Amino acid sequence: AMIPVAQSQLMFRNTVTGDVLDLSFGKKGEKTEAVEHFLNTGENHYNTDEDAIKAGESLFASACSGCHGHLAEGKLGPALGDDYYTYPKNANDKGLFETIYGGARSMMGPQYNNLSKDEILQIMAWIRSIYWGSTEKADWLTEEEKETFQPAAMPAEFKEALENFNKNH
Ligand code: HEM
Repeated sequence: AMIPVAQSQLMFRNTVTGDVLDLSFGKKGEKTEAVEHFLNTGENHYNTDEDAIKAGESLFASACSGCHGHLAEGKLGPALGDDYYTYPKNANDKGLFETIYGGARSMMGPQYNNLSKDEILQIMAWIRSIYWGSTEKADWLTEEEKETFQPAAMPAEFKEALENFNKNH
């Protein structure tokens, strides 16, 4: 007999409170294959899609760079391309989506009014593409992907800030 299998959807939670996020909030977009796949698996197909990464770069410039810097090197908000996370779950794509969609503390408000889920996935793909941290800590990659992964170069702006920090501490 055929057993009907309910489409399983992961439970997404607010990064700070742990409350279940209502995914029907905010800016609506076309329900793309990438969004559907992501909501069911936590895998972002856009991570390997050059066009999506490019689109994510310009979305990041308008929605995020004012606080996080154009190269995600950090400004009012933390750097997003390094491997230190205030919220460790941001090292995987489900956690990163939860933080962007639902927000965190202080100025990091929920982005669901501003961006569709598909746009959030594009921004996430760009953030992963500029990652300059260690491969070992890149939790969004499978063990197999880690074998060939090459981190990007650390932006000079981040390097400078890091050197100044080390000088003063
Ligand atoms: C924190 C992403 C927009 C200010 C974070 C974190 C992520 C993130 C992933 C957590 C980093 C960690 O765990 O270390 C983004 C993205 C944005 C965006 C992708 C655009 C879609 C903004 C804007 C502001 C902002 C517009 C300022 C108005 C902050 C601040 C924090 C933060 C202050 C620290 C909050 C905390 O530690 O709880 N952001 N952000 N972000 N962001 Fe954003």
